Amino acid sequence: MKLKGKKALVTAAGQGIGRATAELFAENGAEVYACDINQDTLNTLNGMTTIRADVTKKEDINNLYESTGGVDILFNGVGFVHGGTILECDDDQWDEAFEINVKSMFRISKKYLPYMIDQNYIYSLKNI
Ligand SMILES: NC(=O)c1ccc[n+]([C@@H]2O[C@H](COP(=O)([O-])OP(=O)(O)OC[C@H]3O[C@@H](n4cnc5c(N)ncnc54)[C@H](O)[C@@H]3O)[C@@H](O)[C@H]2O)c1
Repeated sequence: MKLKGKKALVTAAGQGIGRATAELFAENGAEVYACDINQDTLNTLNGMTTIRADVTKKEDINNLYESTGGVDILFNGVGFVHGGTILECDDDQWDEAFEINVKSMFRISKKYLPYMIDQNYIYSLKNI
C-alpha cells in the first residue's frame, strides 16, 4: 500500500501499459482516475473511477481536470505509432501522431503541473 493517500491520473488506462499501471497503482492503495478514449475497455476496470476522454481535445482535458481536481501522480500513458515506414506515412497521419504523442502530453502536463508545484512536488520555475 505504498500509494495510500495518493491520487493518481492514468491516461490510456483502457489497455496495455496504461491499464497495467492503473491496476498497479490501485493495488498499492492509490485513488485512481482511469482515462481512455475507449469506453468499452474502461468499463472492464474495477476499483477506480473511469472517465472517457480524448486527450487530443482541449475541452476533454478541461473536463477531465474538473472531474479529478489536482492529482499527486500523473501518468501520461497515451501513445500511438502508425505502422509502416516514413514513405508510407502521409501528412495527416504525421499530424495525428504529434497530436496524440506530443501535444496531448504538453497540454495535460500544463493543466496538472500547477497543483503539483503548489504542493512542492516539483521545483517551481518561479523560484529560479
Ligand atoms: N508496448 C510496448 O512494449 C511499448 C514500449 C515502448 C513504448 N510504447 C509506447 O507506449 C504507448 C502505449 O503503449 P501500449 O502498448 O500500452 O498501447 P496500446 O495501443 O495497447 O494502448 C493505447 C491506449 O491508448 C488509448 N488512446 C489512444 N488514443 C487516445 C486518445 N486520443 N485519448 C485517450 N486515450 C487514447 C487507446 O484507446 C488504448 O487504450 C504507445 O505510444 C507505444 O508506442 C509501447
